[in-house]
Amino acid sequence: MSGLAVIGAAGRSGAALCRAFAARSESFIPVVRRPDAWAALNLPGTARRADLRDPEALRRALEGCGRVVSCAHARWAPAILAAAEPGATLVLMGSTRRFSRWPDAHGNGVRAGEAAFLAGQHPGVMLHPTMIYGAEGENNVQRLAALMRRLPVAPLPGGGHALVQPIHQADVTASLLAALGASWTRPETLVVAGPEPLAYRDFLATVARAAGLRPPPVVPVPAAPLRLLAPLTRLIPGLPSIGADEIRRLTEDKAFDIGPMRERLGVTPRPLAQGLAATFGSATG
Ligand SMILES: NC(=O)c1ccc[n+]([C@@H]2O[C@H](COP(=O)([O-])OP(=O)(O)OC[C@H]3O[C@@H](n4cnc5c(N)ncnc54)[C@H](OP(=O)(O)O)[C@@H]3O)[C@@H](O)[C@H]2O)c1
Repeated sequence: MSGLAVIGAAGRSGAALCRAFAARSESFIPVVRRPDAWAALNLPGTARRADLRDPEALRRALEGCGRVVSCAHARWAPAILAAAEPGATLVLMGSTRRFSRWPDAHGNGVRAGEAAFLAGQHPGVMLHPTMIYGAEGENNVQRLAALMRRLPVAPLPGGGHALVQPIHQADVTASLLAALGASWTRPETLVVAGPEPLAYRDFLATVARAAGLRPPPVVPVPAAPLRLLAPLTRLIPGLPSIGADEIRRLTEDKAFDIGPMRERLGVTPRPLAQGLAATFGSATG
């Protein structure tokens, strides 16, 4: 049971984790549903092919693995619990969306996956990240910068005073590595977030400055009309699309205590400005 499997190895968090394993010359088994996507990453490790919808393929992929990381959606936890070797340690990615007051398929899936994991027999941890930025191909701060390049002002529900606490992808990777190195006797959960919450309007200004843009003046707008207008972003060429639900979530505080992350994982997340400088430095340089 010495194997270490990474489910979702070709995704953003999975690939970042596998790059970290490769840099440490640590062996791992990528578990992917699309071998071509994995091959395109040019990373070491012989992939095992499994779609999470296929219980037998997943069982074969996790054979001999005493540790399993999953960077696929937390809703897949029951399939992973059923397929993993008895006693294997699981490190699963969840999401702080599970704390949202507005139920949706994403948040409900995380809640259901977490409940199955906590009721199961495998030790380990489900890490709940906040918004992750800084990965290759991420659609969070890159999309915001693209929006700010097109819009002269930032129309924000409630003036953008709700709190956010984004985490850099490298700190997610550090958290996954620390969770894999820790000893777990039962299934637990932990939030992984950036160092401190800040108002969304300040987050926007920090992203603008890091992207070499002038922070746009914020225009407070009630959420309801903005939600009605959101679908139009899909029709305007060059403008990244925004969902009505995303606008509603901008009115919700997303602030978290990272004391447990620091204590249990020993990870101190980097300041936002530092993470953004690295993100846009490489994106624009
Ligand atoms: N990105 C964020 O801001 C954020 C914030 C909080 C939580 N999270 C959670 O963290 C996790 C990782 O995020 P991410 O940004 O790395 O996501 P991602 O890039 O979308 O990666 C998800 C991975 O799961 C794999 N997958 C999905 N369905 C599968 C199936 N049926 N069988 C096998 N593999 C399957 C995907 O495979 P393919 O490569 O074949 O598509 C992909 O490799 C996700 O669960 C997400 O909900 C993300």
